[in-house]
Amino acid sequence: MPRFKLIQQDSGFELIDSHQSQLALRIDFGSSKLQHRATRGGKKELLLRAVDAKPGLRVMDCTAGLGTDSFLLANAGCIVTMLERSKILSILLRGALQANVSQDIQSTLSRMHLIEADAKDVLLKMRKTGSTDEDRGGTLPDVILIDPMFPSRRKQALVNGSMQMLQNFVGKDQDATELLGLAIQTGCSKVVVKRPANGDELDMFKPSYQYVAKANRFDVFLQ
Ligand SMILES: C[S@@+](CC[C@H](N)C(=O)[O-])C[C@H]1O[C@@H](n2cnc3c(N)ncnc32)[C@H](O)[C@@H]1O
Repeated sequence: MPRFKLIQQDSGFELIDSHQSQLALRIDFGSSKLQHRATRGGKKELLLRAVDAKPGLRVMDCTAGLGTDSFLLANAGCIVTMLERSKILSILLRGALQANVSQDIQSTLSRMHLIEADAKDVLLKMRKTGSTDEDRGGTLPDVILIDPMFPSRRKQALVNGSMQMLQNFVGKDQDATELLGLAIQTGCSKVVVKRPANGDELDMFKPSYQYVAKANRFDVFLQ
């Protein structure tokens, strides 16, 4: 019997882990927790400072996951292209993007565009199409965001239930260093990588600067 099962409820899709039946993974951009983060906590979000989020900024989120970071960016007015390679997570995300939500949330969701793809393939095409952004038809985003699944999180208590289940489902993102290399090779002027606060830098890449919080860190690469 497979460990994970995707089921459709009246409220949308959810992923069930048969090893931990008390946990179900679902995405709800209208949840009070996320709304609280987006409204009252929004300005404190290190992510928004690292990206320098502002209306109209084009961000490519290469690791969409549960869509939380994409949502916070879109809520700040960014136009977000979300790349997610897991078919199941793409189904969960698409369902959440099409959910019946308030007008305000709907306008945020209208700035979030999901593509089911491996970001490495997308970045490779952007790198190959030309040497300047004009050659590439102006397709380069202003910022590329990468948030790979951390190899191990020592402070498990800091991982919430959904993120823990996501970790069990997708496993480690072993190709994170390759992804960062490709992002830098596109020539995009800013690449932001989320890491554990005490995690190593990804391979030989040295960030231009960092924003450090208790659990996470954002490494910013400017070029
Ligand atoms: C740690 S989670 C990202 C969480 C996300 N930032 C959020 O706010 O919910 C990493 C996600 O990136 C996806 N991912 C990792 N490498 C990828 C790649 N090369 N292309 C597309 N998706 C990728 C994984 O499938 C996983 O869903």
